[in-house]
This record gives sequence, C-alpha cells and structure tokens, in this order.
Amino acid sequence: MKTAKISIVGFGSIGAGLATEMARKKDFLRGKGYDLRVVSIVDADGAEIDEDGLNIKSIIEKKERGKAFSYDKSALDLIGEIDQDILVECTPSNIRDGNPGLNHILTSLKNRVNVVTSNKGPLVVAYKRIMETAKKNNVSIGYEATVGGAIPLINLVKSNLRADDIVAVKGILNGTCNYILTKMHVEKRDYEEILLEAKEIGIAETDASYDVEGIDTASKLVILANSLMGMDVKYEDVEVEGITRITPESLDLADELGCTIKLIGEVEREGKRLKVSPKLVPYDHPISVGGTLNIVLIKTDVAGEVTISGKGAGPKETSSALLSDILNIVDERC
Ligand SMILES: NC(=O)c1ccc[n+]([C@@H]2O[C@H](COP(=O)([O-])OP(=O)(O)OC[C@H]3O[C@@H](n4cnc5c(N)ncnc54)[C@H](OP(=O)(O)O)[C@@H]3O)[C@@H](O)[C@H]2O)c1
Repeated sequence: MKTAKISIVGFGSIGAGLATEMARKKDFLRGKGYDLRVVSIVDADGAEIDEDGLNIKSIIEKKERGKAFSYDKSALDLIGEIDQDILVECTPSNIRDGNPGLNHILTSLKNRVNVVTSNKGPLVVAYKRIMETAKKNNVSIGYEATVGGAIPLINLVKSNLRADDIVAVKGILNGTCNYILTKMHVEKRDYEEILLEAKEIGIAETDASYDVEGIDTASKLVILANSLMGMDVKYEDVEVEGITRITPESLDLADELGCTIKLIGEVEREGKRLKVSPKLVPYDHPISVGGTLNIVLIKTDVAGEVTISGKGAGPKETSSALLSDILNIVDERC
C-alpha cells in the first residue's frame, strides 16, 4: 500500500469538495493500493490537524455550522511543522501577485513538499519560477485542475501527445460563462439572475468578475501557452473581452443566423496570438457545447486536431483532476 499525507489549503468549494471525494472514495482508492490521509486542513481563519488522518465529515459539519477551526495556524506555519507529502492549494485565484497561493506553493516546494493546485493565479504570475523551484528541490507540482476542471487536458498533452508539437489551442474554458450564456439563450433569463445561480451552485470564482470579464479564460490561456506550447507569455499578452455586454437580444440575433454565442479562448504560437472574446458559433459546430461543459481543440503537428470535452467547473468534477495529480505524485514520489 502506498501511503501519502495530504494537506488541503483553502477549504471552500473546491477544498471541501476534494476532501469529500477523498472520504467517499477511501475504500476504492485503498483497493487500488493508495492510502491517502488528510493530515491538515487550513482555511483563512485557522486549521485542523491530525497526523493520523482527519475525520472529514466532522470538519465539514463544523464549517457548515460556522464554528472556528481548532488551531490558530496558517498554511505557512504548518509547512515546516507537520509531516506532509503533498500540499493541495485551493485558495482564491489572484493574478495580480499570485498570493496567497504563490507564497504557499513556493514555500512548500522549498521545503520539499510536493504540490497540487487548482489555483491558477500563481502559475499565471510565476510559472517559470515555480517550475524551477520544483526542479531545484526535486519535488513535483501538478496543476491539471487549473484548466478545464475535470477534463484531463494537461496530462493528456504531457503523456499521450508528448511527441507532438502543440501549435494552437482553442475552446470554451470557463464553465460559468458557458452556463450563463446557455441559460440566457435557452431560458431567456437575465444575466444577473443566472450569475447569482452560478454562485449558489459553487461554479463561479470567489470574485465572479474573473469569470464574466474573461480574466479566468485568459489566465488559462497563459498557463496552456507556457506549459504545453513552450511559449513565454504573460497575462498582459492576452487580448481580453468578456461576456458582460451580451444581452438576451444579442442571443436572439445570433439565433436568427443559426448560431449561439460562446466565450472563446484561442492561443496560436505563430505570431504569439492570445485572445479571449465572445464569438458566434453555429449550432452544429463541434465547439457548440452547453451548460458548464468546457471543450478544447488542440492542434498539433502530428495528430492534427484533437478535441476533448467535459465538465469545466464544480467541486466534485474538479476533484477528479486534483486526485489524478495526487495519485501521479504518489506513484512517482511516495
Ligand atoms: N469552483 C470551481 O469550480 C473551480 C474549478 C477549478 C479551479 N478552481 C480554483 O480553485 C480555487 C478555489 O476555488 P473555490 O471555488 O473553492 O473558492 P472558494 O469557495 O472561495 O474557496 C477558497 C477558500 O480559501 C480560503 N482562503 C482564503 N485565503 C486563505 C489563506 N490565506 N489560507 C487558507 N485559506 C484561505 C477561503 O476562506 P474565506 O472564505 O474565509 O476567505 C475559502 O474557504 C480557486 O483558485 C479557483 O480558481 C475553482
């Protein structure tokens, strides 16, 4: 049995979703030879710690009842203090300076703790620095959950397509925008009402302007360009327009043309072109997927076009990507 001690930092929608799935799949994972123990959970206002493995259900109940965590400790306090193999970073994304996630990730890597992150901010701000720090300290970082939720996009390119040169990537990379646009179109409801609904079901970013203004999609393009396409780009290199100006009337006009409107992110290596914008998409085009679905078209020099689609947001779905990175690290390192 391979054992790994895991810390979860940021116990919101994704952090709690991961912990719930780990508890639910405990026997399934043990059957595959993995004994994963959550030894600490850190939120903005404190921590729970048990080096033998925490009782997830009681911690979730405690949080739901609004009770404070038992220890007045931060993630940074715990990194050098407790024995942990993998730190899972699930704090809110911040693309200005990447913090608090960037600080958590760099400190973990320097302390030879492997990292898995759902938080895009640190990778957008400091991709090279994070990768160099991981390499220097001989530890791993997994970031499948930062792009495309449950879609195994990054690991697909890094393993199955590793002989291919990725020349362009295009698609719907934000489940919240796709959910809003789909509902506006199908149910003819207002933008604000559906945005509120997206927040309630836990698919919107902590600051929903990240979603609707295209910032989240642009951040994902930066991660894909730097990590899969050998580019060296910053957020400022992306031309960004969100969905805030789309009205039910513009969707009706699109409908008359046999189209819908989708927020499309595109990166082409030639010409260093990175763009996020709402586009007319014919109903019968493969990219025309609805709801929280994401879809990505990967263009390579050998395979040609590879298309992959799946749930792009949500606590349960994102856990699939986080767990896949965790298991990869356990196989390699633990
Ligand atoms: N939601 C999705 O479907 C999805 C999908 C893929 C990736 N992601 C990414 O995953 C991350 C988490 O998303 P989420 O939806 O779970 O956000 P969330 O519900 O807002 O949860 C973030 C949690 O982090 C806590 N936190 C803030 N600062 C902290 C600190 N310094 N130390 C420890 N905890 C801290 C917050 O506590 P307070 O609330 O008390 O501040 C909150 O509990 C984000 O970076 C997001 O971009 C989300």
